[in-house]
Amino acid sequence: MKRLLSGIKPTGEVTLGNYIGALRQFVEMQKDYESFVFVADLHALTVYNDPNELRRRIRDIVAIYLACGLDPKYTTLFIQSENLYHTNLSWVLECNSYMGELSRMTQFKDKSKGKGNEAISCGLFTYPALMAADILLYDADVVPVGVDQKQHVELARNLAERFNNKYGTTFKVPEPIISKAGAKIYDLQNPQKKMSKTDNSSKGCIMLLEDIESAKKKIMSAVTDSENRIYYDKENKPGISNLLVIYSSLKGIALEEVEQVFKDSNYGEFKKSVAEEVAQFLSSLQNKYKAIIESGEADKILDESNEKVRQIAEAKVKDVFSKIGVGR
Ligand code: AMP
Ligand code: TRP
Repeated sequence: MKRLLSGIKPTGEVTLGNYIGALRQFVEMQKDYESFVFVADLHALTVYNDPNELRRRIRDIVAIYLACGLDPKYTTLFIQSENLYHTNLSWVLECNSYMGELSRMTQFKDKSKGKGNEAISCGLFTYPALMAADILLYDADVVPVGVDQKQHVELARNLAERFNNKYGTTFKVPEPIISKAGAKIYDLQNPQKKMSKTDNSSKGCIMLLEDIESAKKKIMSAVTDSENRIYYDKENKPGISNLLVIYSSLKGIALEEVEQVFKDSNYGEFKKSVAEEVAQFLSSLQNKYKAIIESGEADKILDESNEKVRQIAEAKVKDVFSKIGVGR
């Protein structure tokens, strides 16, 4: 069986964009792959986090994973920092990546823009090497991610090929999987911009654990246009197109079908339907989340996975160390 691997980092609260762009795919694909899904907590350290907040968010992501339908029968769930081999391999990959290629990462360019060198952590720069380590440690065949992470998975492919050429075949070369619809959910107030965890407080971002009434209000006040006709046109109608994608993803029906359903509706009616759909989705997810937190089942699941992921990663790092010539 082929392997799937992906993760979400615990910076900010998990958003509807994370669900539609990433998490939903993990759940849909888990039965067809041997799945590994983790909380990328070491990735959160590229910026400062309050330690107690970080701990809570890590726990929340695990519970959200389970509430969204990741099933320990199919998916090995773990926390990155609990498997120290990730950082071992990351160092080796850093030493095999170039300043030039890391400087070309769009996310690095965006996040460092306008900041002086003293304000940018080295981790923000090297983080794609850690992400490559996450992927290559497990010989992942496929990596489902939102479109913003595609470039990082491509770097992981390049690093795998480079290492294999230098030292002999060691790593599987992974494929990014980007879902066709919903690869990028946009900010409700500024539909040119990705809905992002870093703007949690804004009216444009819906969080999975957000109060339902507040989420509905955000949909109702989403920016649209003045045409008052409902159809998908990302260039000219980014706001309406974003709402169409959200509705179609949550409802599990094709965009064309959604266009048909709402072809005679006005924007107010359409938004009300989207808000209802979002509310239903969030309320069912939050009920499951609460039950999971109360049951304490997550700890048991994580404890059971830890030995499995450690063994896989240890074997890979030993192979790498032996090939590059470190140790005895
Ligand atoms: P992050 O929030 O950066 O940890 O992202 C975790 C996963 O969610 C990655 O696969 C991202 O590509 C995906 N993702 C994050 N924000 C969005 C968004 N607004 N739309 C679609 N996918 C997203
Ligand atoms: N960097 C990803 C993000 O910010 C999270 C992540 C870390 C990841 N390691 C990964 C995703 C490995 C897929 C595979 O969204």
